[in-house]
Amino acid sequence: MSESGNQESSRSPNGNASGTTPAARPAVGNRVTVVLGAQWGDEGKGKVVDLLAQDADMVCRCQGGNNAGHTVVVDSVEYDFHLLPSGIINPKATAFIGNGVVIHLPGLFEEAEKNERKGKGVKGWEERLIISDRAHIVFDFHQAVDGVQEQQRQEQAGKNLGTTKKGIGPVYSAKAARSGLRICDLLADFSQFSERYKGLAQQYKAMYPTLDIDIEGELIKLKNYVERIKPMVRDGVHYMYEALHGPPKKILVEGANAALLDIDFGTYPFVTSSNCTVGGVCTGLGMPPQNVGEVYGVVKAYTTRVGIGAFPSEQNNEVGELLQTRGKEVGVTTGRKRRCGWLDLVLVKYAYMINGFTAIALTKLDILDVLPEIKVGVAYKVDNQVIPHFPANQEVLLRVEVQYETLPGWNCDTSAARSFHELPENARKYVHFIEERLRVPVKWIGVGKSRESMIQLF
Ligand code: GDP
Ligand code: IMO
Ligand code: MG
Repeated sequence: MSESGNQESSRSPNGNASGTTPAARPAVGNRVTVVLGAQWGDEGKGKVVDLLAQDADMVCRCQGGNNAGHTVVVDSVEYDFHLLPSGIINPKATAFIGNGVVIHLPGLFEEAEKNERKGKGVKGWEERLIISDRAHIVFDFHQAVDGVQEQQRQEQAGKNLGTTKKGIGPVYSAKAARSGLRICDLLADFSQFSERYKGLAQQYKAMYPTLDIDIEGELIKLKNYVERIKPMVRDGVHYMYEALHGPPKKILVEGANAALLDIDFGTYPFVTSSNCTVGGVCTGLGMPPQNVGEVYGVVKAYTTRVGIGAFPSEQNNEVGELLQTRGKEVGVTTGRKRRCGWLDLVLVKYAYMINGFTAIALTKLDILDVLPEIKVGVAYKVDNQVIPHFPANQEVLLRVEVQYETLPGWNCDTSAARSFHELPENARKYVHFIEERLRVPVKWIGVGKSRESMIQLF
């Protein structure tokens, strides 16, 4: 399957049902390459996107907000992206934020300016960024509500969700309740926008009386963004259509969060509020499914999770500590330590079933270099019975006993390897084991943070 390029129009050989002249089917247009997280996030999507974005014409985000934290290391400079597509680091690429993304405008500008100061990678971002007019806006009060809701969960149920407090739950709730405000509303009549903004703020104030909302202050800030974002805003559907049906273009979509955090398929309720699986690519960009080309699943060579929720292969022991320390497993957005455990192929297979990965990028293999033996989760047992699916119910997931296979470690440094054959035999066996169990080819192997530390297999 080609990663880009126009497909010819095709005609039905037998004509249509009425036997009249067959109708021409429109050309599919450019195919889009998609990069998605296959575990609980932080698999190294930013690095994979950076690699693929080096010759991309367009890089897109389709869901999530600045709860995401994607790291890209180029020339020893570490960039962190939250709302901007990481591929913006390619100075020739246009970056598109689709309708499915929720945007906190001050956060977006701070992120862009901070990264611009770090190095030359993000120069000229303002001229290269396009924002869909249908994207919903995250207000400061959504973020405050996120915090208050977390506190209430803690007080009422004794545990919270461990959100990033970036307002993600509240803003997607407002979107579903049809009371949200979008970029197109901000750019239309500002007095009408202000009225709706105030109405929404009052609703939250009624629900959470202790909430401190600076209505006038935020409206002034928002008004100041109007002229600045105007040149960036487009009808996202039309923009995407033109990109798909214009001259051949390499278009890349960067998923945020990950399959097990997906609102429908993740470990509900300990999930985020958007679809982080392949369906979210179409709904979040306004793109027909036939334009989806390669779908790359990013899989960390072990498993991590930030925040609360069941984690069957978690290692609350020296193995978990070693993975956390060697892997520098600290959240890019919240600075929280990530929980760590063995690779769990039951959940990666589940992510594959939903997303149809065409290949895998296996990251952070180098972190396993010092382990004498490595375990891989291959099945789940509940009440001594092997269960055939990844359980939907959290209580069941908490009771899962992971069945492991143990593979020998390789006890040597892989960070300098640049081809598959430079990896030690046991590391190659580990990769083959994953491919055989998942029946998906591994296309890249990450052995370090930098752009160069990536082995391409085909
Ligand atoms: P994302 O959210 O999926 O983009 O991932 P994050 O950026 O949150 O976390 C991944 C972390 O692992 C970052 O610090 C990356 O620089 C780092 N990383 C990515 N790939 C590799 C790799 O192959 N080896 C090592 N050692 N670090 C990696
Ligand atoms: P990237 O794109 C890891 C987790 C949070 C929390 C839950 C809900 O960097 O892989 P939210 O703020 O979205 O309402 O939080 O989801 N979470 C992530 N964990 N990586 C992410 O993004 C995450 N985005 C959300 O920790 O448990
Ligand atoms: Mg991350």
